[in-house]
Amino acid sequence: MSPQLPDLIQTEDALDEIMTRPRPALIEFIRSVRSPLVILGAGGKMGPTLARLARRAADAAGRPLDIIAVSRFSDARARQQLESHRVQTLSSDLLDRSAVARLPDADHVIYLVGLKFGTTDNPAYTWATNTLAPALAAERYAQAKIVALSSGNVYPMTSVRGGGSRETDPLVPPGEYANSCVARERIFEYYSQQNGTPVALIRLSYALDLRYGVLFDIAQCVFNGQPIDLATGYLNCIWQGDANEMIIRALALAAAPPLAVNLTGLQWLSVRELAQRFGALMGRDVAFTGVETDTAFLSDTTQMRASLGEPPTPIEAVIRWTAHWVAAAGRSLDKPTHFETRDGAY
Ligand SMILES: NC(=O)c1ccc[n+]([C@@H]2O[C@H](COP(=O)([O-])OP(=O)(O)OC[C@H]3O[C@@H](n4cnc5c(N)ncnc54)[C@H](OP(=O)(O)O)[C@@H]3O)[C@@H](O)[C@H]2O)c1
Repeated sequence: MSPQLPDLIQTEDALDEIMTRPRPALIEFIRSVRSPLVILGAGGKMGPTLARLARRAADAAGRPLDIIAVSRFSDARARQQLESHRVQTLSSDLLDRSAVARLPDADHVIYLVGLKFGTTDNPAYTWATNTLAPALAAERYAQAKIVALSSGNVYPMTSVRGGGSRETDPLVPPGEYANSCVARERIFEYYSQQNGTPVALIRLSYALDLRYGVLFDIAQCVFNGQPIDLATGYLNCIWQGDANEMIIRALALAAAPPLAVNLTGLQWLSVRELAQRFGALMGRDVAFTGVETDTAFLSDTTQMRASLGEPPTPIEAVIRWTAHWVAAAGRSLDKPTHFETRDGAY
C-alpha cells in the first residue's frame, strides 16, 4: 500500500480530500493553464472533485488561477462545497443560447455536460443535452482549448477475448443514449473543423467514487443479499481522482482535428470475482444470476498510457475502501450505473 493512501476511508471529508490531492505531474501542468479555467457541467458526479483538484493543484503551484464551475446546480450542496473551496460558481443553463453568450471568456475549458439516465422516457431531452449544448459551447469557446468528456459507450460491446475497443474503431453502439454520445463527439469535431478549435475527446469508462460507481453497485448488491447479474461479466473502471487528474492534463492533448482518448483502468475486472471479493470483505454470501457472455464494454488503453500515463491508484485499494464504505452505510448518491444493461436503453 502506498504510504499516501489510507487503509480505509471513513468520512466524506476524507474521501474528498484524498480524491482531490494533486500529484506532482498535475501541479507542474497547471502552471500552463491560463486563468480562468472554465468547467462546464460542473455540478454533477465528477465536476465538484475535478474543480477542487484543479484548485489545489494551482495553489500548490503558487499559480493565481481562477476556476469557474458552471452548471444549473440542481444540487445546491455541490455549489456550496465548490464555493467553500474557493471555486467560483456560475449558475447557467447551457441549453440557453443567451446564457452561453454571457459566459466568461477562457482559453481553457473542460466540458462535462451530459445526460444518460431517463433517455428511454425522454429521448429528445437527452439528444438536446448531448448535442445542442455541445454546439453552443463549441461556438462560444471556438478560440479555446477544450477537453470534452465522452464515454466508452460510443463503442459497441466488444469480445472479452479481444484487446478492447480502440479509438480508431467504428462508433456504432446500440441505443439512443450511446448514439447521442457519438453525436456529442461529432458536434465538437464539426466545430473544430469549422473554427480550428483544439479538442480532446475523453472516452471515459466508469469513474469510481465511493458514493457511486460500478464497484459501489456491486458491493451494495452483495451487502443487501441481492443476486449479481453476470451477463456483462467484465468491466474496466478508474478511480475518479485519477480520472479527474488525467482529464485536466488532457488539455495538453487538445488538437484540431480532435484527438480521442480512451480513459479507464488497465485491468479488465471479472464481475464474478469482484462480487466474491466483496462477499469475503463484508462477510456475506454471494448469489448470481445468468452467466458471463462473450461481450462487454472494454477499452484498449494503449493511447491513454502513451499520452497521459497509467492511473496510479490500485484497484485493490478502491475495492477495500468501497466494501468498508458500503458496510458502514456511507452516503450514496443514489445514481446506479446500470452496468448490467446490454441493450443500450437507459
Ligand atoms: N461518471 C462516470 O463514470 C462517467 C463515465 C463515462 C462518461 N462520463 C461522462 O463524463 C461527464 C461527467 O460525468 P458525471 O458523472 O459528472 O456526469 P453527470 O453527473 O451527469 O454531470 C453532468 C452535469 O452536467 C450538468 N448539466 C446537464 N445539462 C445541463 C445544462 N443544460 N446546463 C448546465 N449544466 C447541465 C448537470 O448538472 P446541473 O443539474 O447542476 O446542471 C449534470 O449533473 C458526462 O458528460 C458523462 O457523459 C462519466
